[in-house]
Amino acid sequence: MKVLTVVGARPNFMKAAPLVRALRRRGHRAPLLHTGQHYDAAMSQVFFDELGMPEPDVYLGVGSGSHAEQTAQVMLGFEPVCKEMAPDFVTVVGDVNSTVAAALVSAKLGYSLAHLEAGLRSFDWSMPEEINRVVTDRLSDWLLTHSPDADLNLKREGVPDRKIFRVGNIMIDSLVANLAKSRESTVLERLSLNPSGYGVVTLHRPSNVDSDDTLQGIIGALKTLAEELPLVFPCHPRTRKRIKALGLVDEAGAFQLTEPLGYLDFLKLVSDSRMVLSDSGGIQEETTYLGVPCITLRENTERPITIEQGTNVLAGADPARILAAARNALAIRERSTCAIEGWDGKTSDRIVDCFERWL
Ligand code: UD1
Repeated sequence: MKVLTVVGARPNFMKAAPLVRALRRRGHRAPLLHTGQHYDAAMSQVFFDELGMPEPDVYLGVGSGSHAEQTAQVMLGFEPVCKEMAPDFVTVVGDVNSTVAAALVSAKLGYSLAHLEAGLRSFDWSMPEEINRVVTDRLSDWLLTHSPDADLNLKREGVPDRKIFRVGNIMIDSLVANLAKSRESTVLERLSLNPSGYGVVTLHRPSNVDSDDTLQGIIGALKTLAEELPLVFPCHPRTRKRIKALGLVDEAGAFQLTEPLGYLDFLKLVSDSRMVLSDSGGIQEETTYLGVPCITLRENTERPITIEQGTNVLAGADPARILAAARNALAIRERSTCAIEGWDGKTSDRIVDCFERWL
């Protein structure tokens, strides 16, 4: 069996790595294509190194650009590769521009398309990722989900049951496989942090970082919080540019900005933190698994199961709400445990079982 997996941006790598490994371990051909949507070493190569992911068989090098440019470049680069490789299945992951671009090409060429992390919906059409999710799901033949709400969303959209497979959360496969190794990370010493004595911040959504007022409001709230709890902020390149332009943060002190971190350092940082404040999607799930309080700096989430579990709250971008949520989180002393079905580190094997059955 030949399964071609497409990755492009940081959140894809920890989801694709366990799948590619499991396919190869079980004797299948599993070529990997990297579109190059993310290209800085800290946004890409470090994940290949740390997650034991094979070097990509094909690198398209599309880089940054507008949504149309990026999507079009992936499509142009992917089409001849897909034809030449003629895989039994194409797998796309998550909701980034590379995902939808590769899905369009694969569907039009008539290849069998599997979407990993299908069915998530924020119902917020202003998010580029929501458009990518809906279109990719519509194009896919096999919809691999990781939560009951995802199954329900797909059924409501008319996707027949026979296309929906609840395989579990493959990102948790990477987390489970690397948690012990991450404990050896020296990131806390390097940043002069004490276990449970700091919070972690990440911020990169255009809705939060591209508007001066919104970004200033969020950073203002975080600076106030940093007087009560030191904060460390591994900063996405998009956000760093904006923060610099507005002159918002000193690089050191109680509110520390760092370069983007690798997988193991970041996992250690989150798992030892008091709380996380973030607008990321995947981090909402990682904190749920770890039992770390997460304050999501958005008005909605495509991952409602994290709220049902009690680890995640939505605080939007309003400074007063962010501070109130953070102070509530500071009062939490005990970590919750996560028992969501299929968030168990064994998802990649369940997916390979599916591929073998489908073939
Ligand atoms: C993309 C995804 C988003 C995901 C995020 C994770 C889309 C629409 N968005 O957003 O869903 O949550 O990745 O990080 O696909 N840049 C660099 N170096 C890099 C990559 C990007 O400097 O290696 C800078 C460039 O200025 C670029 C900007 O970041 O223009 C945005 O990159 P892009 O890939 O367009 O979107 P992200 O914000 O990273």
